Amino acid sequence: MPEPAGKASSAPLVGGSPEPTLIELSTDGRRAWSLPELDVPATPIDLPELAERLPGLPEVSEYDLVMHYTRLAHRNFGVDLGFYPLGSCTMKYNPKVADWAAARSEFTSLHPDTPAHFAQGALEVLVDAERILCELTGMYRATFQPAAGAAGELTGMMITRAYHTANGDPRTTIIVPDSAHGTNPASAAVAGYTVKEVPSNERGMVDVDALRSMLDDQVAGLMLTNPNTLGLFEEDIVEIADAVHEVGGLLYYDGANMNAILGVSRPGDMGFDIVHSNLHKTFATPHGGGGPGSGPVAVTRELAPFLPGPLPMRDEEGTLFWEMPAKSIGRVHGRHGNFGVVLRALTYMRALGDAGLRRVAELSVLNARYLESLIADHYEVPYPAPCMHEFVVSAEELKQQTGVRAMDIAKALPDRGFHAPTMYFPLIVHEALMIEPTETHSRETLEAFAAALNEIAETAYRDPEAIIGAPTTTPVHRPDEAQAARHLDVTWSMHHG
Ligand SMILES: Cc1ncc(COP(=O)(O)O)c(C=O)c1O
Repeated sequence: MPEPAGKASSAPLVGGSPEPTLIELSTDGRRAWSLPELDVPATPIDLPELAERLPGLPEVSEYDLVMHYTRLAHRNFGVDLGFYPLGSCTMKYNPKVADWAAARSEFTSLHPDTPAHFAQGALEVLVDAERILCELTGMYRATFQPAAGAAGELTGMMITRAYHTANGDPRTTIIVPDSAHGTNPASAAVAGYTVKEVPSNERGMVDVDALRSMLDDQVAGLMLTNPNTLGLFEEDIVEIADAVHEVGGLLYYDGANMNAILGVSRPGDMGFDIVHSNLHKTFATPHGGGGPGSGPVAVTRELAPFLPGPLPMRDEEGTLFWEMPAKSIGRVHGRHGNFGVVLRALTYMRALGDAGLRRVAELSVLNARYLESLIADHYEVPYPAPCMHEFVVSAEELKQQTGVRAMDIAKALPDRGFHAPTMYFPLIVHEALMIEPTETHSRETLEAFAAALNEIAETAYRDPEAIIGAPTTTPVHRPDEAQAARHLDVTWSMHHG
């Protein structure tokens, strides 16, 4: 018999007062589990010190649990709920067939330490995904160990260091553009490099003359994303790559924006030596809330010996086995990376095929350009070149004239049924709103979102307080974000009760 539900939550289904914690919903003796009858003699465990350390878990029924988590889920906005134009994050639809593949027991029941001989299918998955990734990036070999884009960046920086050190030429400096994502300089710094910033020119691209003036024999490499964080394709990329290579540096490609170029152009052909891909962005695997992700790193033939290992290799009979590359930087993950994410990404790649992946890039650019054209009368476009898969507008003028900031616009969108875009990034644009519609949304959705953004701007001129007071329909209105970041309080304690 199922246990009866415990204390009912008095919280409304959405909005209103906070959802009680499971401990607050707990009723002594209530259970969400049952065990079969004992078929061996019962043996009391006499461990009084263990009894003292019991964690005091909540006692709730299965139905309590389901209701609790369903209520919480109803308070959350996700890609399966509505338009989620979070620039640089590629919040596209995650096809459910990929979850089906990743949930197959042939994969889920496989222990990561299973000897390669008994895990040939799983190794084939890695080899197949690696082959497709190398084809799309123009690289030679790849590792799936890094668990996110930032982990890929750090891996790439460690490979850069190992490469220069092996040449007897350890170098000190990594150059990043002033429009770079914060993880780029952070990863270079964590790998022990001095980070120098190259400015963007008036067109929003790397200032090639400024870059040339910074290049010397201490430059280990340049980190770049292309299209850049303004959504603009770096037109001088070949000249940039040649200049960095002339001083012996390497080029690192931050693949966060690869959605725009899939099957159209390849980082390897642009001159990059190391490329990370964000499987959780470009290849449609669910992300957000800290993971799990996958940031595989692909490299040229020259750099392959430095990759983290072990890597799958094939013997003469076609059997796959694990091998550490000759000059490997070692492991960057305890196992083989987030295998479930790789499975989802491979399913997506194979379901779409070559033509389908190219279509992803074409449609993502078309959608971004169309959306930009729909709002360009209401928001400034600071770098007005044709955008790729995303674009950045500024609410600076609106702020000057009405007091309504980018943050207020973002807060007004959930009241209108949309997730906010990325804000205040890249740092070179004041009051930035970075919008990435992705290829998966319909024309009607784009038009509805543009209408909401335009209506917010018009309301701001008429009645700025109506926007500054938003949101009014969400479970949480305006938390004090500085306090929340500085005094994070996520531990339940008695005084909350
Ligand atoms: C341009 C850019 N680079 C790097 C990253 C880091 O990727 P991850 O979040 O997978 O660590 C992001 C993340 O949003 C990004 O937008």
